[in-house]
Amino acid sequence: MTDLWWKSAVVYQIYPRSFADADGDGMGDLRGIIDHLDYLAGLGVDVLWLSPVYRSPQDDNGYDISDYQDIDPLFGTLEIFDELLRGVHQRGMKLIMDLVVNHTSDEHPWFVESRSSTDNPKRDWYWWRPARPGLEPGTPGAEPTNWGSAFGGPAWEYDEKTGEYYLHLFSRKQPDLNWENPAVREAVYEMMRWWLDRGVDGFRMDVINMISKAVQSPGGALPDGRVIAGSAYGDGSASYINGPRNHEFLHEMHERVFAGRPELLAVGEMPGVTVEEAVLFTDQARQEVDMVFQFDHVWVDRGGDPWRLIPLQLTTLKGIFNRWQTGLAETGWNSLYWNNHDQPRAVSRYGDDSPPYRAASAKMLGTVLHLHRGTPYIYQGEELGMTNCPFPTIADFRDIEAIGQYTQAVDQEGRSPEEVLAVLRARGRDNARTPMQWDASPHAGFTAGTPWLAANPNHTEINAAVEQEDPDSVYHYYRRLIELRHTEPAVVDGDFTMLLPNDERLYAFTRRLGGTELLVIGNFSGDEVRAEIEDAAAWSSAELVLTNLAQAPVDLTLGPWQAVVYRRTA
Ligand code: GLC
Repeated sequence: MTDLWWKSAVVYQIYPRSFADADGDGMGDLRGIIDHLDYLAGLGVDVLWLSPVYRSPQDDNGYDISDYQDIDPLFGTLEIFDELLRGVHQRGMKLIMDLVVNHTSDEHPWFVESRSSTDNPKRDWYWWRPARPGLEPGTPGAEPTNWGSAFGGPAWEYDEKTGEYYLHLFSRKQPDLNWENPAVREAVYEMMRWWLDRGVDGFRMDVINMISKAVQSPGGALPDGRVIAGSAYGDGSASYINGPRNHEFLHEMHERVFAGRPELLAVGEMPGVTVEEAVLFTDQARQEVDMVFQFDHVWVDRGGDPWRLIPLQLTTLKGIFNRWQTGLAETGWNSLYWNNHDQPRAVSRYGDDSPPYRAASAKMLGTVLHLHRGTPYIYQGEELGMTNCPFPTIADFRDIEAIGQYTQAVDQEGRSPEEVLAVLRARGRDNARTPMQWDASPHAGFTAGTPWLAANPNHTEINAAVEQEDPDSVYHYYRRLIELRHTEPAVVDGDFTMLLPNDERLYAFTRRLGGTELLVIGNFSGDEVRAEIEDAAAWSSAELVLTNLAQAPVDLTLGPWQAVVYRRTA
């Protein structure tokens, strides 16, 4: 049996600026979350993860922090935060904070000091480098390396005051902290302990596999990255993804922050992490983190050309999950997610969001995900089957990534605006950030004011009020899925066996624990499909624990987008 509580838990992610606005300024806030705690408890989730609510200039919606130990006035105050935390705990849930320590805001006092002079004691808290030898500082191409930033443009910003550049893997308002400096690490650990002392239950660690940079010694140079065809910049990721001291830093953090506090949850967001690395990161014996967010399954529709959409191949998706499930079967643990604030809506991406199939395919996706081995994450609105949003023009996007990448692609790389827009509509992060759809009223019941990002027009049909009333809704289906994890030990601890790996329409697997075996099948198509599995006859007479359509399948023939969970005991 499971000894670690988070193995049987379901986490719900809140993106505070888009969740609920209690004071009518168009921006979600902590009071809005407090007002909806009963909704969350009613869904049955165990843990809430809050995207950043710290003080921030909001250049990247709070992922640019200027004070780690205060709440941004947009969201509330520390007192309201404490009230929220009490409300969460009173309902038997836990709360984890987003921890963004790869970088700070350029308005953080540490950076303000650091940039003030080359001999400031905090100079070395960030990555300052001179211009490329032989080139005039501040001129095009004089950046210390050829790296592009995640949000378009170079990863280096020239600072006239001292004539040097600082590194920012994300926006120019997000300078990277220098984790090589022990004083930086100590300041971060101290801040983390302060939040834990306040009562929070753990952290989701933003891009935590980028904190260690592969500095070359002697001299501390950083090398140019691989040149990308058609792109204005190189790919520096070999120098900062899973860098040489990543494990060391996370183990040190564990010792300095988590030791002696066994009930916490630490999850690391790790773009580009491999299964082999993840086993090491999540091996409990190594004391680093409890689980990681990997990206393989959300990068399946990306090819070499970032501005081309690759249609989903179910066999590829299954291959990825199978690799992660088997790779972490003995040691380590998976996080399971389709959605978060950086991803388009899963029902639009992997399902069918047209009216006849939206609800069925949303439930099917939930079933397949939640029945894997690992801890499932639900992103706000996923439990309603919220969809992508039909953004008419680039002016309707708010996300710094969408706008920056559009500018680089169209202005610098000569792409056609329509081609770039089509990809942003399918993949852009604002799809996830439209206001939570509470009811059919104007702005989806999210705010009494003007929302910072317009609500999806489909909120008149897709919303929490309607779904809570309807026992067949996506919402009530998610409630049952969560309950199944809480009541059926095979969902938590059962082993995993992928079936039908070559089928392009059906996703099928079993979970087995002791004498109990579950069979899960999801139909990723609008066709009727029979599952040609061994033992089909026996399975079709087993107990049907869950399905998303009114009709139970006959002879394991699934209807369009149908999902089934069967159980049998030896
Ligand atoms: C993570 C966050 C994303 C943010 C980036 C920089 O990927 O999830 O929203 O933009 O890190 O902090």
